[in-house]
Amino acid sequence: MLRIGRECYKLCRRRVCADAEKMSVLVSDENTVCAPSSVRGVSRACRPPHASPWRSRHRPQAPRHLQRLIQRSLASLPPLETRESQKTPVADVEHELLHFHPSCKAETRTSVSSNFTVLTNFITEAEEEVLKKEVDPHLTRLKYEFDHWDDAIHGFREIERSRWTKQASLILARVCKSAFPDSGKKLPQTHVLDLAKSGVIKPHVDSVRFCGNIICGLCLLSDAVMRLRHVEQKDQVVDALLKRRSLYIMRDDARYNYTHEVLGEEESFFKGEPVVKERRVSIVSRNEPTEQSPAASTTHS
Ligand code: OGA
Ligand code: MN
Repeated sequence: MLRIGRECYKLCRRRVCADAEKMSVLVSDENTVCAPSSVRGVSRACRPPHASPWRSRHRPQAPRHLQRLIQRSLASLPPLETRESQKTPVADVEHELLHFHPSCKAETRTSVSSNFTVLTNFITEAEEEVLKKEVDPHLTRLKYEFDHWDDAIHGFREIERSRWTKQASLILARVCKSAFPDSGKKLPQTHVLDLAKSGVIKPHVDSVRFCGNIICGLCLLSDAVMRLRHVEQKDQVVDALLKRRSLYIMRDDARYNYTHEVLGEEESFFKGEPVVKERRVSIVSRNEPTEQSPAASTTHS
């Protein structure tokens, strides 16, 4: 078990610095990510058309067969309370949490906003505490690594976990449900990355050989700024504000064609405002590469 863990651990650290020539990029045209509107409670399309006027006393009644159809549709909807509570977490519809640098093209805005989603308040403070308690004993046994400046990460320690307590598993199941529409494809190991207050994650693209088209991260203990930069068009830069307790989901174009980095303390600004960065723990889940993944058509990882 430990050996398997070590092996995965090694693989996960193999992050690939962006090098357009080395990367053979294959981006699916299909965008199956939860569009912001589809994660905001019940979509309008699910409700029977004109249901509410028809139920009003002063309106003409709908024919019987339509009334039955409406009743059946209403019965299949979750109760109103559930629908209201589904308003949180909220997808970043207005892009309050994404900052497109002025040189960004319309294409960048469209692609990044549909392939990079931030769900704020994805977990509660109590859930954050559950996860912290679970990973801390393992993380704090390790020393932060500051030595290798050429590595993709500086000032970090990390572990891989595949077994979680019941409480933590329930939280992670929710993460998977939001991030991986086909939950069977998630890599069995979850990567836990602890970045020291002074730590940075330098620009890189995650290994295409070991990881599929979706990467998501649950952010604990600190806010941070993640910067995406197009691997070829270097002036296409987008910053994402990753609030403590948020979940980000990065996929397809944002995952393959943009490097991602977590800015260091000194550079940590969002829309000109400083973002205080403390010790940060992220719980990163990735899916398995498939036949369609770029790795299948290239020898590079
Ligand atoms: C990584 C990475 C991001 C994060 O480990 O490859 O990019 O949110 N992590 O910690
Ligand atoms: Mn990464």
